[in-house]
Amino acid sequence: MSQPTIESILQEKRHFDPSPEFSANAHIKSLEQYQELYNRAKADPQAFWAELAEKELHWFKPWESVLDWENPPFAKWFTGGQTNISYNCLDRHLTTWRKNKAALIWEGEPGDSRTLTYAQLHREVCQFANVLKQLGIKKGDRVGIYMPMIPEAAIAMLACARIGAPHSVVFGGFSAEALRDRLIDGEAKLVVTADGGWRKDATVPLKEQVDKALSEGVPSVKDVLVVKRTGQQVHMEPGRDHWWHDLQQGVSGDCPAEPMDSEDLLFILYTSGSTGKPKGVVHTTAGYNLYTHITTKWIFDLQDTDVYWCTADVGWITGHSYIIYGPLSNGATTVMYEGAPRASNPGCFWDVIEKYGVTVFYTAPTAIRAFIKMGEHHPNKRNLSSLRLLGTVGEPINPEAWMWYHRIIGGERCPIVDTWWQTETGGIMITPLPGAIPTKPGSATLPFPGILAEVVDLDGNPAGDNEGGYLAIKHPWPGMMRTVYGDADRFRRTYWEHIAPKDGQYLYFAGDGARRDEDGYFWVMGRVDDVINVAGHRLGTMEIESALVSHPSVAEAAVVGKPDDLKGEEIVAFVTLEGNATASEELNKLLKQHVVSEIGAIARPGEIRFTEALPKTRSGKIMRRLLRSLAAGQEVAGDTSTLEDRSVLDKLREGA
Ligand code: WT7
Repeated sequence: MSQPTIESILQEKRHFDPSPEFSANAHIKSLEQYQELYNRAKADPQAFWAELAEKELHWFKPWESVLDWENPPFAKWFTGGQTNISYNCLDRHLTTWRKNKAALIWEGEPGDSRTLTYAQLHREVCQFANVLKQLGIKKGDRVGIYMPMIPEAAIAMLACARIGAPHSVVFGGFSAEALRDRLIDGEAKLVVTADGGWRKDATVPLKEQVDKALSEGVPSVKDVLVVKRTGQQVHMEPGRDHWWHDLQQGVSGDCPAEPMDSEDLLFILYTSGSTGKPKGVVHTTAGYNLYTHITTKWIFDLQDTDVYWCTADVGWITGHSYIIYGPLSNGATTVMYEGAPRASNPGCFWDVIEKYGVTVFYTAPTAIRAFIKMGEHHPNKRNLSSLRLLGTVGEPINPEAWMWYHRIIGGERCPIVDTWWQTETGGIMITPLPGAIPTKPGSATLPFPGILAEVVDLDGNPAGDNEGGYLAIKHPWPGMMRTVYGDADRFRRTYWEHIAPKDGQYLYFAGDGARRDEDGYFWVMGRVDDVINVAGHRLGTMEIESALVSHPSVAEAAVVGKPDDLKGEEIVAFVTLEGNATASEELNKLLKQHVVSEIGAIARPGEIRFTEALPKTRSGKIMRRLLRSLAAGQEVAGDTSTLEDRSVLDKLREGA
């Protein structure tokens, strides 16, 4: 994050009201209306969620109980009920005029494009669901999805949901190693992939990565389905690998959605935590559907005339909740773009907005900072007048970037929703409702109705105004994760035991530091655990350390984040070598590459510093605080008396 300047601190005092025209047409039109909803939800959460569930979703069978919180932290929502998110995203729109409305507008990086109406998307999803069934996939079987940003990614997810086969989407930028770990942990029976995908004018060899991932044997995987996207040469393993389009030929476009119990597993999505092993975050059917549906509707203020575009990748939770499930459940038109801004086309995002008349645009602060750097002449050359609402997600947005977004992209007329949430929360938790809540640059503002957010100390005592503390959530909500796949104990330890449960009240620990100002606005400061946020991607420092020490030359490694103007944080690794290895420029490069092949390009360290020893306490704990200061080029402040060997610090300083 760039250091706050006097200027930015003053800007933090500014606030922006939605225009009267925006508010007049919005779903939630005023601060009073928000407060009324918030208070009603707080007073009787179950009644609030029940009313929405009844109004907003189709049910095959009504639920018997709204919330079961008898066995915290394991929540159950809408038990006894049956629904299907694929039905809510597709079938129910077919009996309305939306049948022939664009559901998905897709733009490929090389400039090819495709639009699928609700009827067409429904047909393709049904066909693919039938293909999965023919390959023996049944309700409850896990399916791995490792795809570029093409319509088939959405089709595969919706088809899985349709037959009740939980999907586990793995971001296409993850390495074969990372893919393998996730397929093994989730015991996937089948993998859906493509020959490759387009990324910054080059093709990414996805199928090759799948082959590598499976080469040492992932016993659960029986079949691999391959979409032809780039046309690159790929190996097809007889009996295991099939071309998607071959199997789809002549298959029936009729496949009724399976009635799913509310708490049936919908998907697993892996995310980084403070240990070396990523967690399989579990989301279930009805609560997730309701929560993503209603947050999409109120926060992005979706109207039937909107063309909505979220620039995330379907490999992340933002892609799941706010490219696919939330928008389609609302019958919206959602845009999916394969490409990324690149040297050959720095203005490609603005072209997409102009081409399709995008009205609601949702992206990440790191992207905005990159746009600022590329220059405002790119957006200024395009007609962005269709935009009416902007959003950001992924990390705190610095007020300068917020103001640029507001002026240059929003033409000073579009509200900005800075949305705080996590893979674990399923959907947005703290955010402006754009027609109702005045915004302040850099603040995610107020909790969504039904969300009881607090800033507390580790005993659960609330912090005072503007006092720092831990961001915590007090009451369960429908979109919350249900457990860590295969590790309920880790779920409890990671999220529910950091803050002492008080009088039987459990507080969800988000892992972020925050403060609340005198208006009750939340200012999220960033992670307080060993998780770093690099360009909006969440990485565990231990994960990168394990990758480094798996190299034979490395004895020990300690990874910290260092502030970076563009990416928010940059990875810095301190490494000690095995006796027979010597530090060199070449080894430095090799180790960076090693991390890429263990995890993926997103985890490539910006810097590797070789050192003789790491600063440790007498009990052998690495003192990361010292390393963070050193990495940031700051003087080491605070107490160093627990350091076992003070000369280590001097050597590290010399090496810097
Ligand atoms: C972490 C969650 C869920 C969306 C994508 C990231 C940080 C996310 C904001 C925001 C400040 C934010 C937090 C959070 N974060 N949005 N608007 N303001 N920080 O999902 O990978 O699960 O990461 O991203 O640190 O804990 P994720």
